[in-house]
Amino acid sequence: MITAEMRARFDRETAKYPAEQRQSAVMACLSIVQDELGYVSTDSESHLAAYLGMPVMAVHEVTTFYNMYNQKAVGKFKLNVCTNLPCQLRDGAKALKHLEQKLGVHMGETTADGLFTLQQSECLGACADSPVLLVNDRHMCSFMSNDKLNQLIDGLRAAEGKA
Ligand code: FES
Repeated sequence: MITAEMRARFDRETAKYPAEQRQSAVMACLSIVQDELGYVSTDSESHLAAYLGMPVMAVHEVTTFYNMYNQKAVGKFKLNVCTNLPCQLRDGAKALKHLEQKLGVHMGETTADGLFTLQQSECLGACADSPVLLVNDRHMCSFMSNDKLNQLIDGLRAAEGKA
């Protein structure tokens, strides 16, 4: 569902482009949807497509191309571990495996307490710092040894009062 507040935010984004190029605001509008609803549902894609005057599939292509858009509800902390080739060569897959064991979930799943969603990701642009992961699409964590991964998870749990 698109609320009046979301529509007002969409209007501010589309106003940055000539009327015939309002589709250029699709990424900004998808971010607004996610900001307001937590993820981008197919229903939201349809509403946004109608608003921007573009095919639903074109909106879906954007949603599915970028890791930052969630296609379903995620935990409070979304952990994206890079498993692209350069990171694979420097323990990227090992870091993902360690987190699966530490959190008790498989890649793509969310912990039962709703705190963590574990995902793999394509190159995060920090190959020399591998293993790397991104927390909530914003905070890059570098050189993530198993000890540092434990510290990160334990620290986030403690901050939430769930240590
Ligand atoms: Fe992992 Fe580039 S391949 S950050």
